[in-house]
Amino acid sequence: MTTTTTTYPWWKDSTIYQIWPASFRDSNGDGFGDIPGIIKSLDHIKSLGVSVVWLSPHYDSPQDDMGYDISNYEAIYEKYGTMDDMNQLIDEIHKRDMKLILDLVVNHTSSEHSWFKESKSSLDNPKRDWYIWRKPRYDSNGNRQPPTNWLSYFSGSTWNYDEKTDEYYLCFFAKTQPDLNWENEETRNAIYKSALEFWFKKGIDGFRIDTAGKYSKIYGKDGKTFEDAPIVYPDQYYQPSSQFTNNGPRIHEFHKEMFSEITSKYDALTVGEVGNCSKQEAIEYVSAAEKEMNMLFLFDVVHLGSNREDRFKYKGFTLKDFKNAVASQSDFIKGTDAWSTVFIENHDQPRAVTRFGNTSNSQLWSKSAKLLALLQTTLTGTLYIYQGQEIGMTNLPRSWDIEEYKDINTINYWAEHKKLNPNDPEADENLLDVINLVARDHARSPVQWDDSINGGFSTGTPWTRVNDNYKDINVKAQTGDPNSVFSFYQNAIKVRQLYKNLFIHGDFEILDYEIDKLFTYIKSSDDQRAYIVLNFSDKEVPFKQLVDGNLKLINSNVKDVKEDTLTPYEGRVYLID
Ligand code: GLC
Ligand code: CA
Repeated sequence: MTTTTTTYPWWKDSTIYQIWPASFRDSNGDGFGDIPGIIKSLDHIKSLGVSVVWLSPHYDSPQDDMGYDISNYEAIYEKYGTMDDMNQLIDEIHKRDMKLILDLVVNHTSSEHSWFKESKSSLDNPKRDWYIWRKPRYDSNGNRQPPTNWLSYFSGSTWNYDEKTDEYYLCFFAKTQPDLNWENEETRNAIYKSALEFWFKKGIDGFRIDTAGKYSKIYGKDGKTFEDAPIVYPDQYYQPSSQFTNNGPRIHEFHKEMFSEITSKYDALTVGEVGNCSKQEAIEYVSAAEKEMNMLFLFDVVHLGSNREDRFKYKGFTLKDFKNAVASQSDFIKGTDAWSTVFIENHDQPRAVTRFGNTSNSQLWSKSAKLLALLQTTLTGTLYIYQGQEIGMTNLPRSWDIEEYKDINTINYWAEHKKLNPNDPEADENLLDVINLVARDHARSPVQWDDSINGGFSTGTPWTRVNDNYKDINVKAQTGDPNSVFSFYQNAIKVRQLYKNLFIHGDFEILDYEIDKLFTYIKSSDDQRAYIVLNFSDKEVPFKQLVDGNLKLINSNVKDVKEDTLTPYEGRVYLID
């Protein structure tokens, strides 16, 4: 039992559960998840051991990017409910002694936001400069071209042409997600007021900060013009642009301002999505002394095997790569005053048990889902769990057609692929294999609540298809079953909290970089050490103790642990005496 009395800021010890509203729970049969459906499910979330709920965008939006395209920060998307529902959600969460954080999407708005409509209306509109507008370029044949060759994260150009004013606006993501101009102080103040203060005044407890590394754009030498990205893919016009679109010169100034003006006044939890940065850069965002954000999401683990600029250029990875990724995400805060996160799923990632575990039969599915729970609950940082992860939800079946995929990222990529390969069934199948492994759609299929129609998600027609395996994998079947993935997560979270100096705050050291089936590491605090061994293979592997001392088992995903052998996907957590 832990004896130390160290106290930490509340957000460090929290366990956070992410809700992606469209697919969480539908209360009125219209096929879309909604806020009343969330309220109905709060006891399930609480029973997992969760202390904070993160709600993905619930704001008014045309939903081109599932709510990450916001048309009004101060209104609720009507399919999700009303402002009264939202007030009630805040109350019900607080009543259960949990906290609520929202998604802060302020790199861009929807093109339907009134700010953008004004900006677009004329060259001299007072809000023209709230977004980033540039004149066209012309090639040697006199053809109009966008200001740079930058590739959008959702395929095609990062620039979209507006005929009326004969200028392009910048959009890193979809054409309907214009980037805000953070250089303009008036714009920043409007963002703080509408997107942040409005919600803090309603009593929310913090924000997950979307694309938090992208607000400060990187201009060329003249401080105004943008430069072309170098050619990495010679067979395409648009080129990866992350070096021009991340960690720009004023990014830390902007975060410091947001902290001092707003978030510091509310004892807020702030977690930034900053996938693309060096570890040194990461420290600057989240060192306590810098006063910017509390913690961030790095992408080392979730990007494994994929190209950082393009998830569908997928090459695969080894267990050693996996260990390195976990270490690099975890170790960068060692010896600093910075803080980090632990996560393996979110609404932008496929299901972890498919990607890092084994779903070839139900026994291995259950065991490997629990193995991942052991990994996640023993790593240092604030723990995030994505809806459905707690019951081991899997990727969508490979047999499904491309039409079942609804994400703009997948759809645009597929369209681009078909344009380049109109008649190539083999290339289609290869891309479908990759889509089936890494698309964002896998996280977005409805939560499987029970074995009734549509997995109990909706009595109507779900906006997107429910995974075929809902009869086998659902909340109802797992609640109260001591052998279920859900019960395992519940217990593993308890163990994490019980030994929090070790698991939430301890130092992390990998012992077996070179062993190809096992992942063995030590966690240590001032007065305790834990020894964790995880078999990431479908083979039996001899168990060898790599440290001195007596081992005392405190958690495992098998009933009868054998002294000398680890069964496939077996994991154990020991204290070292
Ligand atoms: C973030 C979100 C993602 C969204 C993008 C654009 O990466 O997590 O879902 O598509 O930002 O807002
Ligand atoms: Ca609904």
